[in-house]
Amino acid sequence: MFARLVSLGVVLGMAAPVLAADTPAKPVTFSKDVAPIFQAKCQQCHQPNSIAPMSLITYQDARPWARSIKERVASHQMPPWHIDKTVGVQKFKNDMSLSDDQIDTIVRWVDGGAPQGDPKDMPPPKPLVTDNEWQGVRDGFGPPDLVIKSADYTMPAQHQDVWWRPMSDIPLTEPRWVRMVEIRPSNLKARKIIHHSIAYLVLNNDPEAVNTLIASGPNRGRFDDDDLVNRRPQLMEWAIGKGYDLYRPGTGKLMVPGEKIAWDQHIHAVGEEITGGSEVGVWFYKKGEEPKKRSYLVGFTGIDRSKMLDIPPNSMAMTEGFSVLKENAIIENFQPHFHLRGKAMQVEAILPDGSRQTISYVGNFNFNWMTNYIYDDDAAPLLPKGTVIHVSAWYDNTRANKNNPDPDQWVGYGDRTVDEMAHAWMNVVFFNDDEYKALQAERKAKTAKPTNDNEKQQ
Ligand code: HEC
Repeated sequence: MFARLVSLGVVLGMAAPVLAADTPAKPVTFSKDVAPIFQAKCQQCHQPNSIAPMSLITYQDARPWARSIKERVASHQMPPWHIDKTVGVQKFKNDMSLSDDQIDTIVRWVDGGAPQGDPKDMPPPKPLVTDNEWQGVRDGFGPPDLVIKSADYTMPAQHQDVWWRPMSDIPLTEPRWVRMVEIRPSNLKARKIIHHSIAYLVLNNDPEAVNTLIASGPNRGRFDDDDLVNRRPQLMEWAIGKGYDLYRPGTGKLMVPGEKIAWDQHIHAVGEEITGGSEVGVWFYKKGEEPKKRSYLVGFTGIDRSKMLDIPPNSMAMTEGFSVLKENAIIENFQPHFHLRGKAMQVEAILPDGSRQTISYVGNFNFNWMTNYIYDDDAAPLLPKGTVIHVSAWYDNTRANKNNPDPDQWVGYGDRTVDEMAHAWMNVVFFNDDEYKALQAERKAKTAKPTNDNEKQQ
């Protein structure tokens, strides 16, 4: 058997180390090795009626895509989890990535001719999700407690971008704290035209909020982005490919009776007429388990406002933004936001003592995927006031960027999909000094535990 493999290896020019191993590598088959991975990591999207272009349930479904699967998986494009695994925070609540072993298995399956193997080895099938299902439901949180819909908009086949801003009532009879929110386009087709959708809460029920509206000039009526601890009344921002926001235990957003949602939906024509809007699903804290702290959604800028953005045709560009945290804070998540030329984003904390800490880096940003990386409770960065949040953004306006509609265009800052922008959406919880010290001590106690000796207590 071994001899046969060796001669086969020679014929195929296989790498020697594989064959030199004690146990010769068994052929990887779809039924036994690959199907369980697809079931766990791909099928929630790759099944009929879900958001992906093809199903990856049966061997017959998957086989024609083998080459493309290898390419997307090996380049870490699929599943759409693009955060760099070598720097910054590495523990997440919603990690959908493949392990190195899983990637290796898939690559070896394709390289080995993508064989089916014995159909009896197939894992029992998983139930299919319904059309346009909530990510929260797929991830086991159950259906939302409340769903609020916006009015629909009909986008013609060809049209300039539209910002659709209807209002919706929230039918609440008593105050409720929100534990998790998710926005989704109201139907599967609408996923093609809705680039992003923001749900603002209209009543300002937060006595501590500093919603500084700009009083004059071209940005009159918008929120002041320089108010960097800007506690804006956003419930949630959603963009293509994002799932839900899930707040840390003990933190959330408050909704009160009479509250409304003001929508801001960016709609982009795609060559066919499509009607749709957005809806937000809300999961509440149980009564009696209300959190103590509010979580604020902050868009940390990756662009120095005084320099703005200037991306020449057929070139790469880079910008940076700096925002000072005026209070102690925990950062709960990271969601890079760009338009079509976005290439990479890094968030770094520059601490008051001058030291630097990389928080997260997404090196292969893909416009189709504004993935939200939600940090594990104990891994979420805890930062003292005075920390500078430094966002670096890289843009690719060359032909190499597959999402680039026209590399011969100059690109500047703007709201249209063909314009560019860069910010890091992060949910932030603020703490006074006493609370901050208590949190630090709690962290220290937790990180000290596993080393059950006194050696490394710093
Ligand atoms: C969160 C949903 C989601 C998950 C999870 C996911 N995909 Fe995808 N996949 C998509 C969507 C949507 C597209 C089409 C848009 C794009 O190309 O990014 C796609 C595109 C692809 C393509 C390119 C198809 C083509 O046109 O060539 C391949 C291959 C692929 N996925 C494989 C996988 C594999 C393998 C997994 C699991 C290891 C996986 N995907 C997990 C949603 C998903």
